[in-house]
Amino acid sequence: MHAVDLIRKKRDGEELTRQEIQFLAHGAATETIPEEQLAAWLMAAFLRGLSLTEVDALTTAMKLSGEVFDPSSLGRFAVDKHSTGGVGDKTSFLIAPIAAAAGLVVPMISGRALGHTGGTLDKLESIPGYRTQLSLKEMEQVLSKVGASIVGQTKNLVPADRVLYALRDRTSTVESPYLICASIMSKKLAAGLNGLVLDVKTGSGAFLRRKKDALFLAALMVETGERAGTSTAALLTNMNQPLGRMAGNWIEVQESLDLLTGKRHPLNEDLRELSLLLAGWMIYLGGASDTAETGRDRAEEILDSGRALEILTEMVKLHGGNTSIFEEPEKFHSPAFRKDFLADRSGYLAQVDCTQVGWAVQRLGAGRERAGEPVSAHAGLEMHVKLGHKIVAGEPLCTLFSDNDSRFLESETLLRQALLIADEPTPAEPLIQEIITAENKKEYLESAHRP
Ligand code: URA
Repeated sequence: MHAVDLIRKKRDGEELTRQEIQFLAHGAATETIPEEQLAAWLMAAFLRGLSLTEVDALTTAMKLSGEVFDPSSLGRFAVDKHSTGGVGDKTSFLIAPIAAAAGLVVPMISGRALGHTGGTLDKLESIPGYRTQLSLKEMEQVLSKVGASIVGQTKNLVPADRVLYALRDRTSTVESPYLICASIMSKKLAAGLNGLVLDVKTGSGAFLRRKKDALFLAALMVETGERAGTSTAALLTNMNQPLGRMAGNWIEVQESLDLLTGKRHPLNEDLRELSLLLAGWMIYLGGASDTAETGRDRAEEILDSGRALEILTEMVKLHGGNTSIFEEPEKFHSPAFRKDFLADRSGYLAQVDCTQVGWAVQRLGAGRERAGEPVSAHAGLEMHVKLGHKIVAGEPLCTLFSDNDSRFLESETLLRQALLIADEPTPAEPLIQEIITAENKKEYLESAHRP
C-alpha cells in the first residue's frame, strides 16, 4: 500500500477501506509515513469529509495504535464524561466521585489547557503533590480503592493521535468534526469504557460555536461510541458564559469543594445542575437508575450526603495530593495580586464573548503560551455577574487574580470587548439545548449539517 494512493483517493472523494485507514493510523503512530503525506491526507479528509464507516475505522485504528486500559477486572461498569472544552468547566471534580459513589468506576483520562479553554490536569496540579502521570497499573489500583481516578494520557496511549493532532494544529485541519470525533473517541475508547457521556459545548465559548456544527459532532461521537460497543449519550450544553463563578486553576477546585460541602451560591447553580445532569446520565447508562432523571436525583442525594466529597478527598490522597488544604480552601488561594474589573456603564449584562473571557483567564497566567510551560495555580477570575443581571456603573463585574500585575492590562482589554452591557437584557438560553442518544442519533446525523 502507498500513502500517495490513499491521498489521491480521499482527494477525489472516494471511500477508503478499513485496511487503508489502518495503514495510515499505523504509519502515523510509528512515524513511518512522512509528515507531508499525513498532512496532505488530513487536508483531503478535512475538505471531503469521512463516511461513518471511515470515522469508525479511523477511531478504532487510532485507539489500537498504543496501549489500552482494560477495566474488566474491577468488576464494575466503567464510565466517563468528556467535555469538548469550556471556560470555568469543572464538572469533572463533582461528577467523577458522584458516579463512583453510585457503584461505577470512572477511569478519567483528561487533558491540559487548550487554546482559550482550561485543562482538568492543570487544575488538579494546583493541589500540591497531585500526580497526574500514573501508569495504567497505578490507575487500576486507585480505581479498585475509590472508584475514580483522574489522570493524564500516558505516552503510549493513542500515539497516532499525538502525531496527527500536532500535524492538524500546524495545518489548519483541527476543526473537522470527523477528525475531532476520531481524536476524542479513540482516547476515550482506549480507556475500555462501557459507557460515555459527552458534554458537547455550543455558543460563544465553544470550539464549534454554531449549534448545527456542535450537533453534528455530537451525533457523530454517539454513533462512533455505539459502534464500538460503548453506550454513549451526548448533551449539547450552553457555553455562552463561564460555567459557575470561577475560571482558573485552584479557584475552580475551590468552587467544586464548596459545592461538595453543600455551600451553594446563586452564581454557580448552573455548574451544580449541569454536573448532576451529566452524572445522572452516567448513572443511568451504568444501570444504577431506571432513567436519566432518576439518575440525576440519585446524583443529588450522593452530593448532599457528603459521600462524593469523601471519595474525591481519598482519590486526591491516593494521587499524592495534600488534602489538608481542603479544610479551608479559600485560605490556600493566594495570588500575589487581585484587581476588580468595573462596569463602565449601567444596564444589563446582555452578551458575553466567552472565548475572549477564556483568553483573559489564560493571559492572567492560568494557561500557557507554549506547550510544556508551567501555569500559575492561583491565576484566574471570579465572575460577579451572569447574563441578564442588572448592573450599576462602577460595580465590579469580576475580580482578576494573577502572580504578575503586568498581566492585568491585556486581560482587562479582552474583558472590555467581551462583556457587553446594554439597555435591555437578552432572553436567557437553556443550559441543555439537546440530548443525543443511540435512539435519536440517526435523525441528527441526517438532518444536521454535513460539510
Ligand atoms: N480535543 C481532542 O482531544 N481532539 C480534538 O481534535 C479536539 C479536541
